[in-house]
Amino acid sequence: MRKEEYKMTEPKDAVAPIVYADIQAYLDAIADKATNDIANSPHKRFWQVPYATFINGTIPGGVKSSGPPISVGQPIPIIDKANPINSAFFAILTGKFAGKRQMPGGGPLITDQGYQVTVGDKTVTGQQIQTNITSWLNNGFPEK
Ligand code: HEM
Repeated sequence: MRKEEYKMTEPKDAVAPIVYADIQAYLDAIADKATNDIANSPHKRFWQVPYATFINGTIPGGVKSSGPPISVGQPIPIIDKANPINSAFFAILTGKFAGKRQMPGGGPLITDQGYQVTVGDKTVTGQQIQTNITSWLNNGFPEK
């Protein structure tokens, strides 16, 4: 019997897990496509920080909650460790959150019909971005 018959191969549809650098690239692409200049936002590119700062931090620039699910006047954690899928940075890309309008303020929004953006050498749809961020959060939001 030929040995080759027993050789294990990677599944053909294996896809690399989403890591922090992918999340940073998505957020940059969304901000670059935004009509309004992110430089005029209070929080700027709050994802351009080391992994631990992002994971353990709150939205910078003096941004405080204006409504549920965070008590009014409190800082807004970027990641919801107890329930990652509800993390603020993601929730606000798909709808109003903590009393703030959906981001990026002024659009276009990743939930818009036909939304797509170039990330590196790939065109990614808003739906794909949502799927991939969901997968990162459900996978324990890995750094690498
Ligand atoms: C929990 C996460 C976030 C919070 C709480 C938040 C909050 C805010 C607030 C309070 C403003 C100023 C008022 C307004 O324009 O509505 C603002 C502006 C802005 N934000 Fe966010 N933001 C978040 C995430 C994001 C993300 C992920 C992006 C882009 C990828 C983004 C893009 C922008 C832009 C482009 C503006 C400027 C709007 C303008 O100049 O009119 N934000 N954000």
